[in-house]
Amino acid sequence: MNGTAELIIDGKTLTLPTVVGTEGEVGIDISTLRSKTGAITLDPAYGNTGACKSAITFIHGEKGILQYRGYDIAELAQKSSFIETAYLLIYGELPTAAELTGFSELLTENQMLHQDMRHHFDAFPPKAHPMSILSAMIHASSSYPSAKTRYKTLQEAFPIHAARLISQTRTIATNSYRKAAGLPPSYPKTNLKFTENFLHMMFSLPGEDYELNPEIVRALDLIFLLHADHEQNCSTSTVRMVASSQANVFASASAGVCALWGPLHGGANQAVLEMLQEIHREGDDGTKFLNEVKNKVGNRRLMGFGHRVYKNFDPRAVIIKEQCDKVLATLKKHDPLLAIAKKLEEIALSDEYFISRKLYPNVDFYSGIIMRAIGIPVNMFTVLFAIGRMPGWVANYKEVMDDTDSRISRPRQIYTGETLRSYKPMSERA
Ligand code: ACO
Repeated sequence: MNGTAELIIDGKTLTLPTVVGTEGEVGIDISTLRSKTGAITLDPAYGNTGACKSAITFIHGEKGILQYRGYDIAELAQKSSFIETAYLLIYGELPTAAELTGFSELLTENQMLHQDMRHHFDAFPPKAHPMSILSAMIHASSSYPSAKTRYKTLQEAFPIHAARLISQTRTIATNSYRKAAGLPPSYPKTNLKFTENFLHMMFSLPGEDYELNPEIVRALDLIFLLHADHEQNCSTSTVRMVASSQANVFASASAGVCALWGPLHGGANQAVLEMLQEIHREGDDGTKFLNEVKNKVGNRRLMGFGHRVYKNFDPRAVIIKEQCDKVLATLKKHDPLLAIAKKLEEIALSDEYFISRKLYPNVDFYSGIIMRAIGIPVNMFTVLFAIGRMPGWVANYKEVMDDTDSRISRPRQIYTGETLRSYKPMSERA
């Protein structure tokens, strides 16, 4: 049942309606605040601000709950696949067999890049970061109409555009790796599933197909699935912000890739590995590093720890940790970085600094180790996150487009600069 909240401002009481979500979270609807009082709310980094209503993903940070469209992440991780989950996120329900086949066919039909896109690839310097290639190429691909389909509106084109984005992000990602590695471009095989094709396109050599290992395929599919959506995080909010101007889905997703790149967000998986490598290089077992973190030496952080929303545990980290052990056992790899990661985790989880700040391992802490074991280069880690997150971005884009009440996003600010003053001629300036 919806209730009200009262706000007293300059002695006047304003009654504001509350909005209650299906899982019981309460929001105070302040949409009339400025028109009725002239005041706005100030919430830097939006820690207390609900920017939209959404029916896609539910997170309860304190309880460590993550649900896509009402399905618990652990159940999906066990029973579903990345592509089935992508359909669920975008279209709201688990697909029937026919719907899943149709969706898979659409992904296959739209997996090839327009031949002219190779010119864009060629223009990047060999050491370009694959995230910069990915965001530029996703944006560029909006210039190439789908070869088979003509459409009148963005809504009509949506299923094709969604399929192109999910499928071609994988094609762009693998080819950006191959370009950097000096390998010839690779092409998807129609008989392989999404994640199998990713591995094939990354690692097959001319005349020598990559040998697919089911445990590796499963681990990577799981990484994609666990990253598929995460509510109103930095990149998804960026996608929604751009979508609110009615920009197309390619422009919106490309902006999401840019937001994801930062080390405090999707770039954290790369940062985790670099941190472990540095600790290893210095001959430390993690103890010295953690002391520096706690003493805030050089503002160091334990990368892969902490989350704005999860304050007890990240349910994705629990699932991925188990898979990490399986992959290392399958590949019979003893990774010294894993030993350091385990030591860091062990110390941090019983240390007052981390306990009092509710800092726990997040999904990036373990996904980096799996990706390294598979042979994915470190600078591709965040790209894999982007491949996984694409269905979530697409689903959020769709939600914005389908919302007939949607308005362009336009936050306010509290101005803290100079008040009005007169222009000084050059001769009077100090
Ligand atoms: N290591 C050490 N200290 C930390 C860490 C960390 N990883 N994270 C937060 N803290 C400390 C801060 O220094 C601060 O301490 P103080 O109270 O003494 O000043 C306190 O914890 C609160 O930190 P905030 O920055 O206010 O927390 P916020 O919720 O804004 O940050 C974030 C969340 C960005 C994820 C942060 O925990 C962090 O930087 N983690 C490392 C990067 C990372 O793993 N990012 C991936 C996030 S998950 C994802 O995007 C998939």
